[in-house]
Amino acid sequence: MHVQEAYWRELGLWPLWVPRENPSPAPPEALSPSRADGKNQEISAPPPALPDLPVTGDLRRQVASCTRCALHEQRKQAVFGLIHPGSPWMFIGEGPGAEEDARGLPFVGPAGRLLDGMLTALGLERGPQVSIANVVKCRPPHNRTPSDHECATCLPFLRQQIAQVQPRILVLLGKVAAHTLLDTSLPMAQLRSRTHLFEGIPTVVTWHPAYLLRTPAEKAGTWADLCRARHLLTEPT
Ligand code: URA
Repeated sequence: MHVQEAYWRELGLWPLWVPRENPSPAPPEALSPSRADGKNQEISAPPPALPDLPVTGDLRRQVASCTRCALHEQRKQAVFGLIHPGSPWMFIGEGPGAEEDARGLPFVGPAGRLLDGMLTALGLERGPQVSIANVVKCRPPHNRTPSDHECATCLPFLRQQIAQVQPRILVLLGKVAAHTLLDTSLPMAQLRSRTHLFEGIPTVVTWHPAYLLRTPAEKAGTWADLCRARHLLTEPT
């Protein structure tokens, strides 16, 4: 069996439906805002000028020594993420779990293995094409959901990581990433049904791989979200 077919089967996505070669571009009205005030709304808006940023090494050191919130008290180490400036894809999760905390790498536990399967199904792998980061860099005790305060406190790091990468597509994995970056509390169903802009970057919301492990029926919808992300990257409007 071809390796991609094996991953698609693992994702519950076989038999495969193949996206059209040249799907028609999404109409502008499909690219609707996630905020009532219209922020992040214009798909055609030029990306804002980048502020001066510390180089990745400085940022990495700041994250490693951060004590801005209580999450630092119980971490083994902060998990910076896999940041490749210029990578076209960037995936954003919620926060490190036990294995990530132990190894200092993002998405290396069970959810990470499913994320790797999703990457493989897209013809991608961890490396220069793909950056991976989390909203919070330190593991919340007992893998609880990070609080709004913890997410907001850590957000400046993530914003700088995104600015350093300047991805052509952002994929927000789950509600915490979507709510934090898009500054909204809309339900996932509404967030997944549209394409957003974050700082001028086309942004797609999909289910978190940990949720998919508990709810495999949502894998097919996730694949559709990922295909839309790939379409936005390869056929920008
Ligand atoms: N879940 C996340 O959101 N991020 C990780 O790095 C691992 C699990």
